Amino acid sequence: LFSGSVTFLKSAPSLEFLPPPTVPEIAFAGRSNVGKSSLLNALVGRRAIARTSVTPGRTQELNFFDVGDPPRFRVVDMPGYGFAKAPKDVVKKWRFLINDYLRGRVVLKRTLVLIDSRHGVKPVDLDVMKMLDEAAVSYRLVLTKADKIKASELERVADLTRAEARKHAAAFPDVIITSSEKRMGIDDLRGFVMDSISE
Ligand code: GTP
Ligand code: MG
Repeated sequence: LFSGSVTFLKSAPSLEFLPPPTVPEIAFAGRSNVGKSSLLNALVGRRAIARTSVTPGRTQELNFFDVGDPPRFRVVDMPGYGFAKAPKDVVKKWRFLINDYLRGRVVLKRTLVLIDSRHGVKPVDLDVMKMLDEAAVSYRLVLTKADKIKASELERVADLTRAEARKHAAAFPDVIITSSEKRMGIDDLRGFVMDSISE
């Protein structure tokens, strides 16, 4: 399925522009620059269907990609949160968009909450996790950029991240460790997505 058809469906700057909720959706959430767009590309096996950038704040709208022909499910690239340099009104707009989409979308099956392996879970991630717990949207923590740190350090961060996941009602107790760069953990991620959409 992942090696088949993947097409960009649309970009939604606000909730009025969401596509009709016809197939299951899997959302990629996380702090700015954590690697959401890169991991989405790795998941669907495309180099650059979602746009990535070294500059935080690249993705500013909800971007929907159909997988399969006819579409079996959608992956949703979300704007990053916790971007310190963004203007206040932009931050507010993002927060509303992310909140409303995550809370209100009936076809949303799972959210992947991406955490940078070098930084671990930050307070702003906890805010989002709390919001997901309250909305009963089930989510999985995914460590990104695992190629950037030593194996021993990665193990330590993974343990801490797992411990955090276990404190949250709507979180899966285990984490997926990935590197888009080295294509690490992509098969695990694909397996998780397939299980999620077939439930
Ligand atoms: P926003 O849309 O701005 O919120 O960012 P994003 O979370 O979509 O991050 P994006 O995928 O654009 O990646 C940000 C930067 O991190 C880019 O320079 C990527 O090349 C880099 N990056 C992403 N994933 C990895 C990875 O697994 N390993 C390494 N080394 N770099 C990565
Ligand atoms: Mg992005």
